[in-house]
Order: sequence, then C-alpha cells, then structure tokens
Amino acid sequence: MDSIDQLDELLTCRLNFTQKKVEPCSIVIFGASGDLTARKLIPALYHLHVEKRLPDALKIIGSARREKADDAWRLELREGVEKFSRTRRVDPAAWNSFAGRLSYCQGDLSDPASYQHLAEKLEGFGEELRRNLLFYLAISPSQFAEVVENLSKARLLHRDGANPGWQRVVVEKPFGHDLASAQKLNSELTRFAHEKQIFRIDHYLGKETVQNILMFRFSNSIFEQLWNRQCVDHVQITVSEKIGVGGRGGYYEEAGALRDMVQNHILQVMALVGMEPPVSLEAEAIRDEKVKLLKSIRVLDPSQVADNVVRGQYLDGEVEGQPRTAYRQENKVKPGSNVETYVAVKFFVDNWRWSGVPFYLRTGKNLPLSASEVRVQFRPTPNVLFAAQCGPKLDANAITLRLQPNEGITLRFNGKIPGTTLQIRPVRMHFSYDSEFGAYTPEAYERLLLEALEGDATLFIRRDEVETAWQIVDPIRQAWASRSLTDAEFYRAGTWGPAISDQLLANRGQTWRNPQPVS
Ligand code: BG6
Repeated sequence: MDSIDQLDELLTCRLNFTQKKVEPCSIVIFGASGDLTARKLIPALYHLHVEKRLPDALKIIGSARREKADDAWRLELREGVEKFSRTRRVDPAAWNSFAGRLSYCQGDLSDPASYQHLAEKLEGFGEELRRNLLFYLAISPSQFAEVVENLSKARLLHRDGANPGWQRVVVEKPFGHDLASAQKLNSELTRFAHEKQIFRIDHYLGKETVQNILMFRFSNSIFEQLWNRQCVDHVQITVSEKIGVGGRGGYYEEAGALRDMVQNHILQVMALVGMEPPVSLEAEAIRDEKVKLLKSIRVLDPSQVADNVVRGQYLDGEVEGQPRTAYRQENKVKPGSNVETYVAVKFFVDNWRWSGVPFYLRTGKNLPLSASEVRVQFRPTPNVLFAAQCGPKLDANAITLRLQPNEGITLRFNGKIPGTTLQIRPVRMHFSYDSEFGAYTPEAYERLLLEALEGDATLFIRRDEVETAWQIVDPIRQAWASRSLTDAEFYRAGTWGPAISDQLLANRGQTWRNPQPVS
C-alpha cells in the first residue's frame, strides 16, 4: 500500500444498500400536478437518471385531473428541477433523454374509466413495462383506499401475486390521524395489496445521517459498549425549524407538531438510536427491532401528560432579523386555534438497556435555527477528584449526531487548559461528512425511490410501526383536546420554545442543549 487512500479503500467495507438492480418497470405518479411531484419526486428521478441508476426500460407516467399535453407537463417538471433539485442545474442532453421517459395521463381518481385509460397506456409500452408497476400516491390520504381499490379492479394491482411481475404502492404521510384511522386505512389498503407491496414513506429514513445511526452504533465497539443505562444519563433529540407553517396552515391545523413530526420522524430516529442490534440487515430484521423499541416506550396516561409533555404555539417575533406573524394570524388558521407548533416530551423506555434513562424529544417551528440533532449525554464522573476546583461545573461527556445541517458527529470531553493552574473545560472532536466524504449527499427521495424500485422495504414504515407510534402519541392528543392553551404555552418566534419546557429536564439537574449555528 503506498497511500493512505489505498489503505482506506482496502478497509472500507462496502455495505451497499442499493446493490440490487432495478428491473424494467413503469412508475405511475398520482398527483402529478402537485408540489411533491415537482419539488421532490421528479428532481430525485432526474438525478437517478443522470447517475445511471435507472434501467433504460423505465417509464414515468403522471396522472392528475387536469388535461395536459405530455410536452406541457415536461416543461413544468423541467422548471421544477431547475428550481428545486439539489444541483439546481439541468443538463440539456440529460434532460432530453430523461424527458423521453415521461408521459402524462389525464385521470379522475374516482372514475374507473380513468384506470382503464391508464391500463391502455401501459399496454402501449409493451409487456415488460406493463408487468412491473410502482404506484406513487402523492395525493390526499383520504383518497388512498379508493385509488388502491380502483387499481385492483382495473387489474393493474394484484394482491395474490398470481401474475408475473410485481406491483408496489408508495404512500406519503400522514398515515391516519390517530390509531383508529391508521388501522382502518391499513385494513383498506391490505384488502387490495399485500403488506409487502405497501411502502409507507418517512423521508427521514432516507437521510444519509439517519441511516448512519445504525452504522455508527453497531460498527464501533468503543461506542457500542457505552450505549446503555449504565453509561448514558439521558438522550435529547431536537428537530428545530426556523420556518413557520407558511402556506400550510390548513394542513397544520389538522396535524400540529405532534402528528406532523413526533409520530413519524422523531419516533423513527428514536427507534434507531435505542433499538437492539438486528440479526441481519434485512428489512424485516431491522423493522422488528424498531417495533420492539417503540413498544417499550412507556405510554403516558392522559393524566401524566401535563408532567411529561409541553406544547407551545408561536407568537409573532423575529427569526434571523425577519419579522414573523403569530401562528393564529397565519393563513387558514383559526384565530383562536389551540394547535401546537412546538412539542417537547419526556419518554422512558421500559426495557433492559434503557430502564430509567429519559429520552427528551422536541420539535418546533419558528425556532432560532433549523437543525436536527441527537445528543447522547453520558453520566458524569464521580464528583471527587476535581470537585474542589471544578465543582458541579465539570461537564459530562456527550456524543452529538448532527443529522442536518452540517452533518457529522461531535464528541465532547474534558481537557486541561494549558497552564500552571488546574483548570478543566470541555473540548470537542468533530467529524464532518463534507470534509471526510465530499459534498455529495443524495436527497432522501432519491434513495427512497430507488429502494422502492428495488423492492427493499428497510427504509419504509411497516404497519405495526405506524400503529405503535399512534398508540404512543394518541393519549397526548387526548389530554390536550379539552384544554385551551395557557399563557405559559406561547413562545415568541425566534426563541427556543416556551420556557416551561425547561422543567421537563430540571428535576434531574439537566438543561436542553440547543444546536449551535453552523459556522
Ligand atoms: C415534513 C413536515 O414531514 O417534514 C414538515 O410535514 C417539516 O412540517 C418537514 O417541515 C421537515 O423535513 P426536513 O427534511 O426539512 O427536516
């Protein structure tokens, strides 16, 4: 070996999640005129095309109610890629070959004739592209069941696996608005599609750094041994956003922060941080362990919610010098709305590894900065040796997984300040994805679409995961339903949420550790 790079190459274990090949197939996007299609799906597919991750035999059909010519749809999508893709650039030659894959098929989701029309269009592509079908439901969840039933009736979706080829259905969140509605939706979908054919998206699982949680935990013996109640004092998971609800007031009034972020993204991150090692990297093995962790979270009784959960709603204020209006003044928000734009919660995990270790989760809109972090705070050393000089100020060690932005990992430990007196202060070691691996980070949707095309369900949410997550958050909702917000639950835009959220940690002498701005 004559260079470090070559040595690194030799030592790199290529755990490639996307080794399987995508078979020839067609992707049908329902909701083709929507935001998600223009902002996320098509830019992701375009990049996969540019990086030659898609087979030559792959077509993309967009379906929506409006009449539109193929070329008009392509033009719209090209603008979307220029505006929203991660490179914000379109290579004309690459676009032309990509555009050749795209066609539009006008249709009404409730009209069976539309599905016949779609079937005819697919027939026109030939047997290979008609057989393997990925249906992407970028539509309102209230229409999921109807679409799946209509696809089945049009013989485009086969539950019994009797025909050759495969069909898969990708659904977006929100998946239900409580346990009962999620169970109902699951039953409706599984009448026409097998659970194995349903790919429930949580885009957090497509993030590189979220996937790295498992690698970090289970491929490093020095950290793996510390990851338990003997060494960990508590865990903080923060997903802060500096944006308000913007144009999504109508949706947010139904969702609130608990349903929008905690039930899905944050509980998924918590499951990865807390789960036991899976027996393999197969989808079911990983999902089994995630479900076990979720099932070990102590479900709060509504009477315990006030002591363990804090909700908040933003008032007007400023974020990075920009004025923000109060949530109640946002478009499509009721003037007396009690919907939470902030939530902080303390959970305990009743299993052998985590018994007695609090997991503090929080998320909010209009906070000072956008950052997602997991901080694993270790127990302090015995307060004997340095107590005289440092007292309780001696900081405990911590590992921070910076999920976004400034993706990386920070280890915090204490060091002696050089000099003749004994002074100790925390120092940090940083690992940064950018400096180590370069700036390439595929968008979550690129990875998720590729995995769905390959039929790998690891990064998608299984039925029991989604239902268990609802079991955890439902009692919190119920406890809030009958109570209006009190003054203490409001926070100024641009602050770290209502001050009462500090009380969740205060009885253990802990404080929230706010993500630091990216330098
Ligand atoms: C979405 C929520 O699922 O996730 C949004 O509906 C939120 O309210 C978004 O802003 C956050 O995603 P990201 O990838 O920007 O952290």
